[in-house]
Amino acid sequence: MTCPRVCFVIPTYNEAANVTPLLERLTALYPGDDTAFLIVDDESPDGTGRLVREFAATDRRVHLLPPSLSPNVSIGMGTSGEGLRRGLGRAYVRGITHALNTIGAGVIVQMDADFSHDPADAQRLLDRLAGGADVAIGSRYVAGGAIDERWGARRRLLSRWGNRFARRIAGIKGVRDCTAGFRAIRADLLRAANIGEVRVQGYVFQVVLLHRLIRAGAQVVEEPVFFRDRTRGHTKLGTRDLVEFLLNVWWLRFASYETFVKFALTGLSGVFVNLGSFQLLLELGVPALLASPIAIEASIVSNFLINNYWTFGGRRMIGKKRYRGLRYNLVSLVTLALSYGTFIGLSALFPDALPVLLQGCGILPAMLFNYFLNSRWTFREAEDAPGGHVSPGRDETR
Ligand code: GDD
Ligand code: MN
Repeated sequence: MTCPRVCFVIPTYNEAANVTPLLERLTALYPGDDTAFLIVDDESPDGTGRLVREFAATDRRVHLLPPSLSPNVSIGMGTSGEGLRRGLGRAYVRGITHALNTIGAGVIVQMDADFSHDPADAQRLLDRLAGGADVAIGSRYVAGGAIDERWGARRRLLSRWGNRFARRIAGIKGVRDCTAGFRAIRADLLRAANIGEVRVQGYVFQVVLLHRLIRAGAQVVEEPVFFRDRTRGHTKLGTRDLVEFLLNVWWLRFASYETFVKFALTGLSGVFVNLGSFQLLLELGVPALLASPIAIEASIVSNFLINNYWTFGGRRMIGKKRYRGLRYNLVSLVTLALSYGTFIGLSALFPDALPVLLQGCGILPAMLFNYFLNSRWTFREAEDAPGGHVSPGRDETR
């Protein structure tokens, strides 16, 4: 394996007291020409950006990313007063995108500017990537990791509950420190995770990114680190970040079941198509025994179209579309027989029952069968597609 170009991406807001010592230490620890240091500053009023520019003049591996120039993106972010703080998440999206596309990094290291993350520990994270991992987290919550005693009870509690929420609600399995801000990540995984799509503004970014990386099939490892409390400046974590965090972990949970929820909604629309057209046909004088299969077929066709373009639309599917259509028709045929069989059987058992009720009873077994075969067979994912819904690019097989 060739030596990948490493780019440290470090967001700053009012870190004038830390940024120069940090850059001194990092550039000394990682002297290679293949390493870059990108500071993402939000026009810190304390002059952080100016200090970075001065430092960059002495070392061309150091870069400063000023905020995007669109005037309507600044929002009040609580705790830090006067300046234009746009949020940690936005800084990372901008910074990582720049590191991938402009600096051409093969590996990204995220870290804080306040020495809470020991610059020397980054080497251990990079070593884990060299050992085959896609993501290495500097973890406070695995054996050997710890948090500074000086971190107050409130911050400890927030951190513990933040992690609990990320695991239990967002459904991130197998990671102890889901909110850590110290990670080394391979660029191809960041691309597969479509980081450019992330819209969150604040600290919840850490959880959103991890969630996306795992869904993109990343192999994640944790390396114990000691998280030192900052000695200069103060934290920017505000109420706004907490509210955004609480809302977004639920959204992540929905995303985990996205395909299933979409399939269920499609099925629901199919129920209306089925029963609606059945009733319509009856009113037009079509006999029930003929109206039933026609109505079933109508719902199968509408379900296919919605599932193909919406439910499974994000999948990188194998084979040509016409074979997928063929498979879908085969599944539909069996589904139709199952549904119609249920209707005929129930009609014989309950000759006096309302026909639309009996027709409705055929839907459930048909739908379960339909989901299983279509998800596993008709719309199955290409073998080499990393872990799921990661490729938004419309390919011609769709
Ligand atoms: N550009 C930019 N914009 N940078 C920001 C912003 C912002 O809106 N908000 C914070 N930062 C920078 C800070 O200057 C610092 O370098 C880094 O992001 C982390 O911010 P802190 O304010 O020091 O965070 P913390 O110590 O409270 O939180 C740490 O622990 C959390 C988990 O408990 C960080 O590591 C978080 O990333 C982590 O989620
Ligand atoms: Mn900090």
